[in-house]
Amino acid sequence: MCGIIGYVGNRPAEEILVAGLQKLEYRGYDSAGVAILIPDNGVKKVRAVGNLDGLRGALEEADLSATDEPDLDGKFTGIAHTRWATHGRVTEANAHPHGDESGKVQIVLNGIVENYVRLKEKLEEDGVVFTSETDAEVVSHLIARYFEGDLTDAVRKAYADLRGHYSIVAMHTDTPGVLVGARKETPLIVGIGEGENFIASAIPAFMNETRLVLEIDNGEIVTITPSGVEITKIDGEPVERAPEAVEWDEETAEKGGYDTFMMKEIHEQPEAIAETILDRLTDDDSVDLSDIGFGDDVFRQAKRIVIVACGTSYHAGLVGRYAIERWARVPVEMDIASEYRYRDPVIGENDLVIGITQSGETADTLAAMRLARDRGAKVLAITNIMGSQVTRDADAVLFTRAGLEIGVAATKTFVAQVAAMYLVALRLAELRGNLGFSEVSRLINELRAIPEKMEATIDSESERMLEIAKLHYDQKFFLYLGRHIGLPVCLEGALKLKEVSYIPTDAYAAGEMKHGPIALLDESTPVVCVATDSPILDKVLSNMEEVKARGADVIAVATEGDDRVSKVSEETISVPRTDWVLQPLVAILPLQLLAYHVARLNGHNVDQPRNLAKTVTVE
Ligand code: AGP
Repeated sequence: MCGIIGYVGNRPAEEILVAGLQKLEYRGYDSAGVAILIPDNGVKKVRAVGNLDGLRGALEEADLSATDEPDLDGKFTGIAHTRWATHGRVTEANAHPHGDESGKVQIVLNGIVENYVRLKEKLEEDGVVFTSETDAEVVSHLIARYFEGDLTDAVRKAYADLRGHYSIVAMHTDTPGVLVGARKETPLIVGIGEGENFIASAIPAFMNETRLVLEIDNGEIVTITPSGVEITKIDGEPVERAPEAVEWDEETAEKGGYDTFMMKEIHEQPEAIAETILDRLTDDDSVDLSDIGFGDDVFRQAKRIVIVACGTSYHAGLVGRYAIERWARVPVEMDIASEYRYRDPVIGENDLVIGITQSGETADTLAAMRLARDRGAKVLAITNIMGSQVTRDADAVLFTRAGLEIGVAATKTFVAQVAAMYLVALRLAELRGNLGFSEVSRLINELRAIPEKMEATIDSESERMLEIAKLHYDQKFFLYLGRHIGLPVCLEGALKLKEVSYIPTDAYAAGEMKHGPIALLDESTPVVCVATDSPILDKVLSNMEEVKARGADVIAVATEGDDRVSKVSEETISVPRTDWVLQPLVAILPLQLLAYHVARLNGHNVDQPRNLAKTVTVE
């Protein structure tokens, strides 16, 4: 999740662009760059690694202001980018903007170009020399090759070649005062000024300059000049859309218009999944993990997999265990990192240890991984933060690409971790031959469809979960029940409620109820049941009968179309159907929303819950 901003108008672009990047830094920063078009003087591009201080220092040295001709009539043109690296190391050469060999085309990109490897190969066969390791650079070369004087037309043609989740903004030295943007899923928005216009990945980037905004929809191309904005569909059909005035204060703007970072991040989950999986799913329906840091042999030879993590990350590992054992038939051992590190585990060179930690800094997880590695195991880290300690302690790293998560309660990083575990499980299954191509292909296509299903669920269920929360927010205890692959979803849903609402909550394997916990139930207890598709849904339904017989209020999450669940629950939330192993990615959404609304109804600060920190670097 990077930040992009563009400007065309009658003011020097540099400061406007850097100020805009400053407002986007929360989206992630490991490098940043600016490209400014000085008519009759070409493009001045300055890039730097690190946060914006690095870029500011580089801009001072470059002294772009010296090249801003005061008499330009509204032809100041510039684009800028703050990068959250997904492809390619954190280096100046990989920082955006990226240009073609001539430097005449400059582009910034937010998102993932899924098919960039194949496009890059074709361009290199045609003699193009790449200067970065990024997927974004292919876009600048494609636009340069299609450009025949009309930048909009060139971007339109390039868009047709690109697959993935991205938004781009391009400029060309032959067309000063023109920026062209294109959106494929990842947000892109225009700010309307007086004799100037802006384009960015989020409103905060230009909100200090204008509050008149124009949303660009999926599959649209937008051409902005100082005097106007033209939107067309990808086939060229014009789009008429009235700008809207935004009344946000700055803090709300940073939260994307949501009241809290947690709600913003709940809504960012489809994008987090898409960016984590899409370019690792190849055109011919295979899983490409070739960039993680060790070869296929490690996956082929592992006799056992051990997953260590804490909190929400541990729950993601629990989901991963089902996927790995089901698809790859490799035995998986799970342990909470703070326990694992002290139990003198039997571990060695035939083991593959997977440490899951979104921060990459959790002391217990780092210690558990180090112990395993010291005893000869291969160690794979799954983390969200480039440059974190865990990336230096592991033999290989699989990055989730959820973007910075500000809310202490993990939401988008959880689903991104689960998605990363699915990639590992599928790769293991492919390499060990446990799943035939058709089954791998089916699962990959189910996975590709998940972001859209998640988006539909979040949009449709948020209001419903608020209504349910209003019925129960003053309860003194909640019980969560689930079985099989629904159990990790329960555990995670219960942790969310505990973390943000401070209400005592327990989560149990539903089959365990009769061995004690059922004594907890009385007439008023809200019992949240995860009753989505699984091989033992019938068992879950009978456990729900037991619970209902004691008069508890059953709130159930069910797979849409399954009308059995509503017969044994007061409230039933339906989530889209998908392969049952993938079901946790949609089943968790109502539970995140329930926790959120219960906490807010109790007046709590969901972004900074009491006693908690986003990263637990102490044991
Ligand atoms: C989850 O909502 C919590 N913030 C916490 O349980 C967290 O998952 C745990 O501390 C592990 O953090 P990590 O993923 O950064 O290692």
